[in-house]
Amino acid sequence: MFPTHRPRRLRSSSTLRRMVAETTVTANDLIYPLFAVPGSGVAKEVSSMPGVYQLSIDKIVEEAKEVYDLGIPAIILFGIPDDKDTDATGAWHDCGIVQKATEAVKQAVPDLVTIVDTCLCEYTSHGHCGYLQTGDLSGRVLNDPTLELLKKTAVSQANAGADIIAPSGMMDGFVGAIREGLDGAGFEDIPILSYAAKYASAYYGPFRDAAESTPQFGDRRTYQMDPANGREAIKEIELDIAEGADMLMVKPALAYMDVIWRVKEASNLPVAAYNVSGEYAMVKAAALNGWIDEERVVLETMTSFKRSGADLILTYHAKDVARWLP
Ligand code: PBG
Ligand code: ZN
Repeated sequence: MFPTHRPRRLRSSSTLRRMVAETTVTANDLIYPLFAVPGSGVAKEVSSMPGVYQLSIDKIVEEAKEVYDLGIPAIILFGIPDDKDTDATGAWHDCGIVQKATEAVKQAVPDLVTIVDTCLCEYTSHGHCGYLQTGDLSGRVLNDPTLELLKKTAVSQANAGADIIAPSGMMDGFVGAIREGLDGAGFEDIPILSYAAKYASAYYGPFRDAAESTPQFGDRRTYQMDPANGREAIKEIELDIAEGADMLMVKPALAYMDVIWRVKEASNLPVAAYNVSGEYAMVKAAALNGWIDEERVVLETMTSFKRSGADLILTYHAKDVARWLP
């Protein structure tokens, strides 16, 4: 007996496959991360992330124009300051590197959505995402004092023109605190993209080279989530939603697609997936060796993020993806 049902009937030509495709990736789905450093004319490639650069503000502006011209709607900015201290002064100072970069980008490309990462780890001398008890070498960040600094940081970023605030430090209550800070300063209309389910992941290694934010001692396991936990992600997003988050992020993406799916099912908010530095580095390394077809692997991965429920994808491949899309 030959089969009656033949799914292959709908795979017989590329036009037919296009008609029945359930998932599409477009440039509108992409967010491109950029790393701002002091100086001018600086473009320093990150050794573990080929094609990704630390850029001075003049170069960030050039890059922002290119990104916008490619049809990518948004960037997310990270800053690497000249000086770091225990109060993370560079994070919340009005003349901070990210504040200046934000102003420059908004002036040059006003329609490009400028998201700013709101965390302290790039600005603290010890590299942790918050305040530590003096002399504490365990890396056990003090939660509530950190909230005050995050509030200040978010308000200064909004003052600089940030369109979206993206807190990434996984402090309890950080969305509520930042919402309160923004509202109190008259920024009721600035959305919060919460890094809601962010895991303590080895995949952040190359980012820490790029952002010079490796913890000097201890690790981030007392604030970022344990990779063993999926249900806990739902607890995290429920809290963030209750505190006023406008969008939710799952990070990393590739090894956490089940979490992306669960978060999508459990909420009505836009879901973003962060295709992190280590995921990028692995693809780049294999591609540079000629071991995989970079374009096909990257487009397949982006499609899979969308299929698993991501509405938005933060990715270092964004410019390439925009060029490769049909
Ligand atoms: C800072 C932050 C990190 C990333 C984004 N924001 C690193 C970390 O938590 O150590 C990682 C991004 C990437 O790996 O691409 N809190
Ligand atoms: Zn951090």
